[in-house]
Amino acid sequence: MKLQRATIEDIQALLEIEKTTIGVKTYSRWRDEKEMKERLDSEVVYLIENDGVTVGSISYEIKNENHADISALVVKPEFQRQGLAKQAMELLLEELKNFKKLTLEVHPDNHSVKLYESFGFVTESRQENYYDGEPRLIMIKNN
Ligand SMILES: CC(C)(COP(=O)(O)OP(=O)(O)OC[C@H]1O[C@@H](n2cnc3c(N)ncnc32)[C@H](O)[C@@H]1OP(=O)(O)O)[C@@H](O)C(=O)NCCC(=O)NCCS
Repeated sequence: MKLQRATIEDIQALLEIEKTTIGVKTYSRWRDEKEMKERLDSEVVYLIENDGVTVGSISYEIKNENHADISALVVKPEFQRQGLAKQAMELLLEELKNFKKLTLEVHPDNHSVKLYESFGFVTESRQENYYDGEPRLIMIKNN
């Protein structure tokens, strides 16, 4: 497993990954090329590669020298429940270990809440009307 930094060349691959979340009510996906370009401009985006196959993606945004915000962890359905999201988080957290504060936003009904808790993230607050009208937990981990 490795995290491969995504570039503008990977926009279609990233959109394919996001498409696999259609119908997942607890995940708000990146929808088109324009949005994906903006994401690549503001975030560090990784393709998750396992045995040379792209199985998903994950990203983070540097908020300041002490704070990074993790977002958009997706593993394609055919590769789920094999521990790949967990491994990707391990690699990302190792990369981000020098940031004192890590945050992420997750829908309270998303099963990844358990995954984040297993890495020491705790719920700091809850927002009822996020940009998609759904609630979100703001989770935090202090390094
Ligand atoms: C969330 C997601 C990335 C998990 O990927 P994954 O590779 O299947 O996760 P893992 O196999 O590493 O599982 C890690 C833990 O997550 C939880 N989990 C993952 N899938 C789950 C499911 N379908 N039901 C309940 N818990 C689940 C479990 O706690 C699991 O640990 P366990 O297997 O020891 O019980 C994947 O389901 C996905 O891409 N979903 C759609 C997008 C999304 O909602 N992303 C979250 C954004 S915040």
